[in-house]
Amino acid sequence: MIKVLTTVNEVKNIVNKLKKEGKQIGFVPTMGALHQGHISLVEKAVKENDVAIVSVFVNPTQFNDKNDLKNYPRTPEKDTNLLDNAGVKFVFMPSETEMYPEPDTRIFDFGMLDKVMEGKFRPGHFNGVAQVVSKFFQIVQPDRAYFGQKDFQQLTIIRKMVKLLNLNVEIVGCPIVRGTDGLALSSRNKLLSEAHREAAPSIYKTLSESRNLTVTFNVKDLTDWVISTINKNPLLKVEYYEIVNAETLEPINNWNDAKHVVGCITVWAGNVRLIDNIIYK
Ligand code: PAF
Repeated sequence: MIKVLTTVNEVKNIVNKLKKEGKQIGFVPTMGALHQGHISLVEKAVKENDVAIVSVFVNPTQFNDKNDLKNYPRTPEKDTNLLDNAGVKFVFMPSETEMYPEPDTRIFDFGMLDKVMEGKFRPGHFNGVAQVVSKFFQIVQPDRAYFGQKDFQQLTIIRKMVKLLNLNVEIVGCPIVRGTDGLALSSRNKLLSEAHREAAPSIYKTLSESRNLTVTFNVKDLTDWVISTINKNPLLKVEYYEIVNAETLEPINNWNDAKHVVGCITVWAGNVRLIDNIIYK
């Protein structure tokens, strides 16, 4: 039976006990409104560790838009049941004051990594993510922590943060989970109107098709093609599409500029912001 923990002290006591017993801890940080994408991370954490701990916390410091924070879906009871069924032993659901007894004024320097793409459109977002994730790592002291590849930039920045802070945690990136129509699962999908939900799969359809066009199109033309193809649907509006070096996240000009290349996209579907990406190589 899952145990719901709400204070940092409760978690620290349990973690101390587990460490003394030599248990390996797998950790999945989430903001709740859990779906099959989260559950795939959780199942991996359960399988690869002695104990899995999941946090459910809508972190205010990573929202640069107050309305987005207010409207973010919250389903704590349903989340707890899903986690229980997935074999999780502990869920940590702290309050804001529990996580931030003092305002967190730390500023991380991630170089270019948090200046491009999401970082450009959501200033301060990744600093807030790093604040909360570093706090969780200090409290939970996981051996492994699991993050989805849907948030490709976040995953890159978390890996960088672990190096910057010399943390002893292995970061495990997990594949994107999609609906049968290809739409990447996201807690925000719940906020889509019926019409926008119907339009949204064209994002992944276009990204997939673009993988077959890298021989015929140069990087700039393929970028433009993706944007104009998605924008043909009046219900969708691309905020950015960038084809970047998967390690540095810097835009590339030619397909040979980087060994690993990823295309990252953000699309507005009405007032819901959807993100996705495609690995080219
Ligand atoms: O990816 C998320 O849901 C959040 O950014 C995270 C990692 C849980 C930090 O609040």
